[in-house]
Amino acid sequence: MGINIALDGPSGAGKSTIARLTAQRLGFIYVDTGALYRSTALYAIAKGADLDDNKQIADLLSDLKLDLTYINSVQAVLVNGEDVSDKIRTPEVSMAASKVSAIPEVRAFLLDTQRNIAKENDIIMDGRDIGTVVLPDAQVKIFLTASAEERASRRFKELQEKGDASSYEEILADINKRDYNDSHREIAPLKQADDAVLVDSTSMKIDEVVEKIVSLAQKAKSETIKKNDDEAVKKKEHSRTDKSLMETRPITKMHKINPVRQFFYGIVRPFVRFIFKRWFVLSYEGLENVPNDGGNIFASNHRSYGDPVFIALNARVPISYMAKEELFKQNIFFTWLIKFWGAFPVVRGTGDTAVIDTSIEKLESGRNLAIFPEGTRSKTGEVGKGKNGVALIAAVAQTKIIPVGINFEGEKLCRKKRIIVRYGKPIIPSELGVTEASPKNVKKLKKEVMTAIKELVH
Ligand code: DC
Repeated sequence: MGINIALDGPSGAGKSTIARLTAQRLGFIYVDTGALYRSTALYAIAKGADLDDNKQIADLLSDLKLDLTYINSVQAVLVNGEDVSDKIRTPEVSMAASKVSAIPEVRAFLLDTQRNIAKENDIIMDGRDIGTVVLPDAQVKIFLTASAEERASRRFKELQEKGDASSYEEILADINKRDYNDSHREIAPLKQADDAVLVDSTSMKIDEVVEKIVSLAQKAKSETIKKNDDEAVKKKEHSRTDKSLMETRPITKMHKINPVRQFFYGIVRPFVRFIFKRWFVLSYEGLENVPNDGGNIFASNHRSYGDPVFIALNARVPISYMAKEELFKQNIFFTWLIKFWGAFPVVRGTGDTAVIDTSIEKLESGRNLAIFPEGTRSKTGEVGKGKNGVALIAAVAQTKIIPVGINFEGEKLCRKKRIIVRYGKPIIPSELGVTEASPKNVKKLKKEVMTAIKELVH
């Protein structure tokens, strides 16, 4: 939308002169809406219609085509293709226009023409109901008035210059009658809009009035530009920060784990547990936080190659592991072993989205998923910053994350090493307001997970 200035007021207040000069100063288009009512009246007169018969006038409208064109920025009105700009300026047409303008069908007929031109352009539009009905959202609204006597004497001088013989008294009577008609008609009467600036031009010079409107318009223009800029920045920020990275695919239906695999896992797990318990001094805390079902994510700090096993020894459902690709390129036996234990490769640092899909498929297949968000083992035991993957997967799958802290002293695992594995309270994305995978949400969720892991490492 361009800048719209609505200029309303009674006949003879100087609207057209002021609007024309203001438009020139601002480089706006001047739209004289009175000319549209005048042209409609001229057409009705030419058709010999009874101006007091609303139905007759309303029926004529279907054959009337009005166009506004601009020749060197001066408005011309075309009635069915004919330029009538001069013919509509007679006192007879003025009075007829006042009558036809009270007909609802006529006002409705002209409304779109007026709004369409205002939509596309910077305009100053004068009339009687511009600020109240035609352009209620205009950035500048002026109600221009002057005493009836002052307006009559201005019109008298104007008509005398054109050689018209009307007397001052006739003109004053005419103005009073039109004022009455325009402000007492039922539909869209002449009325100052609540938010319009009242300008009484009785004792003001034309230049002063123009200056006032120009400064109001300039202020409105800079405010509109600022508002548009602010909105554009906000829109950009919104699209940058809040656009979903991936569509959410909540795990609604979980498949049953292949019974053969589940059976096998049920045998292997106690066996490995037995061996690990004897080999290390292994203890667990927070076992009540370990879910009995699948479809959950375990997010753990990473201390050793034994971590996947430490986590799994308490999970009744098999776990899949996201493991760095390099691990699959070592010796055949090791590759077989980690695959057997449920690992799948992730290419680090490539923003690999396929791995996200694979992770979600694993969760949907009924398995649990374990991720080491730091991406690499920590020799000192200090928990690193963590990557976004875990939070992104949880946000997309809308599944819970169980934080895990693996604790032992020194760098390496060795026989009789005292190891404590702590499981923290599950983190549920929706409870944190994370209902979609936007960058802001992923960051928030990751922070929550890393803080929880750190609290479990001590
Ligand atoms: O502004 P003008 O004298 O050219 O207007 C001619 C008539 O049209 C006038 O009597 C009031 C009417 N008019 C109207 O009702 N609404 C408008 N927006 C413009 C003019």
